[in-house]
Amino acid sequence: MGVKILTQHSGVPGIDTFEVYRKQGGYAAVEKALKSMSPEEVLEEVKKSGLRGRGGAGFPTGLKWSFLAKPEGVPRYLVCNADESEPGTFKDRELMSRNPHSLIEGMIVSSYALGANTSYIYVRGELFYVIRILEKAIAEAYEKGLLGKNILGTGYDLDLYVQPGGGAYICGEETALIESLEGKRGNPRIKPPFPAVSGVWGCPTVVNNVETIAATSWIILNGGDEYAKIGIGRSTGTKLISACGNINQPGIYEIELGLPVEEFIYSDEYCGGIAGGKRLKAVVAGGSSVPVLPANLILKTIAGEPRLMTYESLADGGFATGTMMGSGGFIAMDEDACIVRNTWNFTRFYHHESCGQCSPCREGTGWMEKVLHRIEYGHGKMSDIDLLVDVAAKIEGNTICPLGDAAAWPVGSAIRHFREEFEWHVKEPRLSQQQNYGLAAYADPLPVPVTEES
Ligand SMILES: Cc1cc2nc3c(=O)[nH]c(=O)nc-3n(C[C@H](O)[C@H](O)[C@H](O)COP(=O)(O)O)c2cc1C
Ligand code: SF4
Repeated sequence: MGVKILTQHSGVPGIDTFEVYRKQGGYAAVEKALKSMSPEEVLEEVKKSGLRGRGGAGFPTGLKWSFLAKPEGVPRYLVCNADESEPGTFKDRELMSRNPHSLIEGMIVSSYALGANTSYIYVRGELFYVIRILEKAIAEAYEKGLLGKNILGTGYDLDLYVQPGGGAYICGEETALIESLEGKRGNPRIKPPFPAVSGVWGCPTVVNNVETIAATSWIILNGGDEYAKIGIGRSTGTKLISACGNINQPGIYEIELGLPVEEFIYSDEYCGGIAGGKRLKAVVAGGSSVPVLPANLILKTIAGEPRLMTYESLADGGFATGTMMGSGGFIAMDEDACIVRNTWNFTRFYHHESCGQCSPCREGTGWMEKVLHRIEYGHGKMSDIDLLVDVAAKIEGNTICPLGDAAAWPVGSAIRHFREEFEWHVKEPRLSQQQNYGLAAYADPLPVPVTEES
């Protein structure tokens, strides 16, 4: 059993209530931070911890906080990004619904460090049950003097609001989230200025993931140095991984960073191996936006070292032979999974979710979707495969926000590692259909794709 920080209260009955959370030692980090530490000291501990943002990019949290502009007389804001819409990622909603006070405690400690007196938790609108749970817990915290004016008699004031999100994936991108929070359409803003300078209502703002904020209480209570001892190198602490796909035990696991990927997939403590005793074919390690890797490359780096669940090891080899930690959405595919269909599915998602501001993303995602659809349904041409590579390369790096990259990477990596499977779909459309979906479903003639041209 690895160290448990975010799931330390797992299974405690009633932990979603203030009383039980308090009895378990909850809100001790607020007491410590507000009563015996300055905001700068809290920030220093977070820096020492080496904590990196758990929302996807893995940027050091303490460093991000230190960029926050502090002009005189201008409010600052902390916004918790609880939009969580990446296919394959479902950790934050569990953390919030099972243990809402742990996030509220992290929000108080983090807001104090940043000098914010108003903070928001922006939750994906469809997660209505999570919004209800959070609102109930926030009301309890106000009642007990942990939110509002003069918290615990320390002179520090904080108001905390839950903001239901727009229900679009793009609203998870931090600048789109800020637009949406302000009541506008969730379109990403061009950076700079970064939110640290001009965020909510044009004021300095930090946007952090749920898991990132929830980890700060443990860091304050136990010290940044203690947190830094967990994990390996620059990948400190623990990470929530939401595991799904063809595994025996789908679920959310808190792992200590540095765990070998092989152990994560095959040990009974985590995924419990591939369902039905089948062979592992591929893994998307960090949510749908990260490059897919074939089994051999996710288990071992190109140098033959065991691949570890760390930011560095997963990225080893760059995009040629590596991938990313991303948001921790781990999707395992067995030997029968169809890479073409999977890639088409992801691309459909990105096309649907593109906000449409940049032509490479707006047009390119649609184009990739159409081409993948016709390959999958047996109407592809060999030249389509290079066309996909070309379109993906032209989207990557040429858009306002990283949704364009997120759409391009799954396509580029799938063709890089599984080109033969794409070619087989083109050469043997009926065989591939029969293998994927059974004879009866796809007897001649094959389904007609959405478009024949382009
Ligand atoms: C299209 C898109 C969707 C995103 N969705 C989320 C999300 O749901 N939750 C999240 O924390 N970060 C999401 N991000 C990343 C955020 O923009 C931002 O980097 C993150 O919230 C910062 O928090 P962290 O420093 O704690 O990781 C998304 C990014 C993009 C481009
Ligand atoms: S990359 Fe796509 S989602 Fe992001 S701003 Fe451009 S069009 Fe919108």
